[in-house]
Amino acid sequence: MERNEFIKSLGLGIALVCTGSCMTGCGSKGEDPAPSPGGGGGGSGSVGTKVNIDLGSQLLTVGAFVASGGVLFIRTATGNAASSFVATQALCPHQGGTLNWVQASNVIQCSLHSSKYTTTGSIVAQPNDGGTTSALKVYVLAVSGTTLTATIS
Ligand code: FES
Repeated sequence: MERNEFIKSLGLGIALVCTGSCMTGCGSKGEDPAPSPGGGGGGSGSVGTKVNIDLGSQLLTVGAFVASGGVLFIRTATGNAASSFVATQALCPHQGGTLNWVQASNVIQCSLHSSKYTTTGSIVAQPNDGGTTSALKVYVLAVSGTTLTATIS
């Protein structure tokens, strides 16, 4: 290989290495991780979204609960008035754990770090990992026939 050819090939190699480094660097700025749910998104749908439950087949007994469309529906009383039910976000504001209704103690409890909430969304117990959670979002409910509707807010 001639000296000129060697220098040209060396230059091309350096150029490729620099280009690769620049592309990698630029790429990482555009690939920031998705923001965490933080403040209680909890897997909920968009504000204003309506989520329906069929009361003919679900939430038939007091204490029954079901998660659908990012909403945790709980039956807290008999009858099919809106006041017989509660709807909150379905995922924990702390780190997105699944929320369940515990009828025996009248609390909504996270399956991940055991934080607890009232049906009004207030915090009863903080997570057991030393972290802190925030209040649950509670959604307005309406009943039409046998359809229970929560409006995400
Ligand atoms: S995710 Fe619910 S308490 Fe941590």
